[in-house]
Amino acid sequence: MPGLIPTLNRRGFMAESLDRFSSAFVHYAAGCGGTVLDMGCAYGVATHAALGQGATVHACDMEAGHLAILEAETPAALRPRLSTSVGTLPALSFGAASFAAILCSRVLHFMRGEEIRAALALMHDWLQPGGRLFLVADTPYAGFWASAAASYEQRKAAGEEWPGFIADIGSFFPDPATVDGMLPYLNPLDPDILVRECGLAGLAVLDSGFTGRGDDRQGRKHAGVIAMRRG
Ligand SMILES: C[S@@+](CC[C@H](N)C(=O)[O-])C[C@H]1O[C@@H](n2cnc3c(N)ncnc32)[C@H](O)[C@@H]1O
Repeated sequence: MPGLIPTLNRRGFMAESLDRFSSAFVHYAAGCGGTVLDMGCAYGVATHAALGQGATVHACDMEAGHLAILEAETPAALRPRLSTSVGTLPALSFGAASFAAILCSRVLHFMRGEEIRAALALMHDWLQPGGRLFLVADTPYAGFWASAAASYEQRKAAGEEWPGFIADIGSFFPDPATVDGMLPYLNPLDPDILVRECGLAGLAVLDSGFTGRGDDRQGRKHAGVIAMRRG
């Protein structure tokens, strides 16, 4: 698919271009003066952009192969401002107040609701007071799952807490082998859910909305939020 690079571990695709929330992270990272975290960085589309703007970045992903490629593709002159680690949210720990900003782009929809809550509580603690959290998630209007968007809208109207949750992604494909190696479930999110969950984590929400990438920057395939750890 144009503009998308498949991940090595079948956790979707890394986008080659940045949506408006990831762009805001890069801009903030360049000026904040502290180390920032790119959580679920894949091959480093945001990490490379932030390093190029002068930021100091810690890139973390559950797949070591992604980090090896990210490091190999980082110009030598930028390497002193890059560190990496392998880890899986929410079974992951950094020190409290370690980061001036965190980007977690297109990762949360691979988690069940309770894991999302645990991950947001952790990221809240990893932020310095006043630090910013930039979240992006795939929505029910993205990818193969868009055919179920009407069901999501009905469940949302009925007040379900995780209305986009798909318990069996194999049901979207005629050949069940299509999803071999993938998580069996997916939890597409929307801006309202991200705002609610940031609030529950104690963060102050600064901006939120639907977004897209490339030619679809005004689209609804991604949901984003910018939130701040209170001082
Ligand atoms: C769809 S890609 C998104 C990559 C990039 N951040 C972007 O916005 O295009 C998801 C990435 O998150 C990683 N990932 C998924 N679940 C994760 C988890 N629970 N903890 C850490 N990394 C995770 C995957 O290995 C993959 O590299």
